[in-house]
Amino acid sequence: MEIYNLKEMLFPYEQAVKELTLKFEGIRNEYKLLGLYSPIESVTGRVKKMSSILEKASRKKIPPDKIKEKIEDIAGVRILCQFVEDIQKVIDIIRERNGRDLFIEEERDYITNTKPSGYRSYHIIIRYPMNTAMGYMEVPAEIQIRTLSMNFWAVAEHSLKYKYSGNIPMDLQKRLINCAEAAFKLDGEMGTIREEIMHVQKLNEIKSNLVNEIIENLHNLYFKAKLEEMDDINRKFVDIWEEGDIDKLKEFNQQLNVMTEVYKV
Ligand code: GTP
Ligand code: MG
Repeated sequence: MEIYNLKEMLFPYEQAVKELTLKFEGIRNEYKLLGLYSPIESVTGRVKKMSSILEKASRKKIPPDKIKEKIEDIAGVRILCQFVEDIQKVIDIIRERNGRDLFIEEERDYITNTKPSGYRSYHIIIRYPMNTAMGYMEVPAEIQIRTLSMNFWAVAEHSLKYKYSGNIPMDLQKRLINCAEAAFKLDGEMGTIREEIMHVQKLNEIKSNLVNEIIENLHNLYFKAKLEEMDDINRKFVDIWEEGDIDKLKEFNQQLNVMTEVYKV
């Protein structure tokens, strides 16, 4: 990679980040549509800024023509999880894809092996196969998997490191380590109520999916079947919805399903 070409060389990386982000978001949405708990809370991606690429290359004494192979986080995807336990599930999802739509190069477990700075996160370095205008290529990418709490800490620490050009004053470093310990504790505490939170979140998804189905059924019955007793049905729905009982919503939806069958809408 020549520096005058850096911008164009980044096109495939842009595309890889977009595709990977879309794929992981897709998994998250699928869990939700199925009324399941999603181990993925959110997904973000970015291509490393040109200034950061050059800075890292010079810091690591990487010559320009070796940038592409030696800097493996030019394309970066970050998957956030609510709970530490979810991270393993995400790792499994990625390993399952190994050899299919991505190739795992290396895994770095900074959760078991917390960095001296206090940094915790799970990294998977991959190669992502793509067909570009320049032909087939495998774009290196770094997937970071961490909890919301690990992310809170890492983002804050990163800003400070940036502000102090990597040399954070000693007292601030100590406080950052205290913060990392607090974040670690928070993850542990949250873990103790994980089951209950998962249960509630699943119920919420099921409920919201049900309400979507009911409203679609009501729409069809009203506009297509032109049912006379729509007012009664609407009122019944509002009553059941206000009551908030999921079984009653299910039963009501089943009745609507039968009606739409009968009226062939
Ligand atoms: P650099 O740290 O970028 O030089 O990468 P590396 O080749 O040494 O790999 P490493 O696995 O150490 O770090 C990869 C990425 O993880 C970094 O670019 C950061 O996004 C993140 N990271 C690693 N260590 C820390 C840390 O101490 N603090 C924060 N905030 N992020 C870190
Ligand atoms: Mg490093």
